[in-house]
Amino acid sequence: MRVAMIGTGYVGLVSGTCFSDFGHHVTCVDKDEAKIDRLNRGEIPIFEPGLEELMRRNVAAGRLDFATDLVDAVRQAEVVFIAVGTPSRRGDGHADLSYVHAAAREIARAAQGFTVVVTKSTVPVGTGADLEHIIRETAPDADISVVSNPEFLREGAAIDDFKRPDRVVIGTSDPRAREVMAALYRPLSLNAAPILFTERNTSELIKYANNAFLAMKITFINEMADLCEHVGGNVQEVARGIGLDGRIGSKFLHPGPGYGGSCFPKDTLALIRTAQEAGSPMRLIETVTTVNETRKAAMGRKVLEALEGPVRGATVAVLGLTFKPNTDDMRDSPAINIVQSLIDRGVKVRAYDPVGMEEARKVLPAGVTYATGPYECADGADCLVIVTEWDAFRALDLDRLKTLLRVPTVVDLRNIYPPSDLIRRGFRYVGIGRGNLDAG
Ligand SMILES: NC(=O)c1ccc[n+]([C@@H]2O[C@H](COP(=O)([O-])OP(=O)(O)OC[C@H]3O[C@@H](n4cnc5c(N)ncnc54)[C@H](O)[C@@H]3O)[C@@H](O)[C@H]2O)c1
Repeated sequence: MRVAMIGTGYVGLVSGTCFSDFGHHVTCVDKDEAKIDRLNRGEIPIFEPGLEELMRRNVAAGRLDFATDLVDAVRQAEVVFIAVGTPSRRGDGHADLSYVHAAAREIARAAQGFTVVVTKSTVPVGTGADLEHIIRETAPDADISVVSNPEFLREGAAIDDFKRPDRVVIGTSDPRAREVMAALYRPLSLNAAPILFTERNTSELIKYANNAFLAMKITFINEMADLCEHVGGNVQEVARGIGLDGRIGSKFLHPGPGYGGSCFPKDTLALIRTAQEAGSPMRLIETVTTVNETRKAAMGRKVLEALEGPVRGATVAVLGLTFKPNTDDMRDSPAINIVQSLIDRGVKVRAYDPVGMEEARKVLPAGVTYATGPYECADGADCLVIVTEWDAFRALDLDRLKTLLRVPTVVDLRNIYPPSDLIRRGFRYVGIGRGNLDAG
């Protein structure tokens, strides 16, 4: 089948590449010329494990190409995906649909023959109907069916998630579109991936419900961690104890500095707006977002409290800047809040991230210095903070670290170290939900 992918970011590039690997012919389109130039040179503009190799293979096989011009790609395509950004609209938290609407207008003008237009971008309930309206207004004679097919891939594990999804959700009531979508995803049936066909509105809601639920699960265990710190108790064991209950499940029960990233913060806010406007507020999710924001600020204070001497002029080494490991994505990363609150108090911040440094420089406050590795980062610091649990930080040479740090304090915001490993070596260890344990 011929596919056009409009928007070649984290989602568009991964899905486009994977569809081409299934044997479809895919053109990935993006307005960003520099991005398309890089892709045409065989470079990938994002960090995603395995993507570069998969992309090269499919480009070489003639199934995958890149363009800035949407018209040609759409004219030839039977399926056109919209995978552009839907960031939070400044001021009210609504999903900003301007990129989606603009893409729909351009597609409507270019489409020829029966074309299925699919929203892969995360869009609020009712967007499919709005797009139909926009398309009818722009090109009254176009033969277009608008389908919802939200994406659930996780950055860092995106290819595997796309190729071996828990499920594929497709929202349409149009039998012609359903047939096209079933053919498009047929290669996945070999992996026995369940394909869930629903009404379009339901499909749009599933994506938000999914992210809101996961944000809630993380927030729950984060509050449990706080309680453990107050009353005594080990949140890791609490998580394990409840996670073994099949009704709860063990995933997304890792306490940390609060959720961030390109999806949960904006999607929870957008769902809240949708619910408020519908007169059916989701108070649970409203609370989740408030608790999470409070938490990010509290993490900065946690680090400041861990400093033994004067805060102003102290040096804090920050390991891990991206919102999670195996991505270079800095969008809404908790590191941003933490670093800002340290800088605000006159702390000198030295930071290191295995792949996120280029993106981090764009969003972290001026004044942060960047190290070339974890040990250079720790050298002479008054405290080491682990913000993102990259594998590279899981087995640091603790004895070397101890000699490098000026004050051997480790704030482990991801609980990646057993406290005893550090305490035994004379560190002061501050974790999440396991109490503050001193060497003495
Ligand atoms: N990143 C994730 O992990 C993830 C997961 C699931 C769903 N989503 C959703 O997928 C959508 C895309 O997210 P992303 O992270 O890939 O965004 P992104 O910002 O990485 O990429 C979006 C791309 O679209 C391009 N673009 C915008 N308007 C265009 C137009 N009219 N024509 C051509 N290109 C255009 C931009 O230049 C950009 O390269 C969002 O709605 C997001 O919520 C993201």
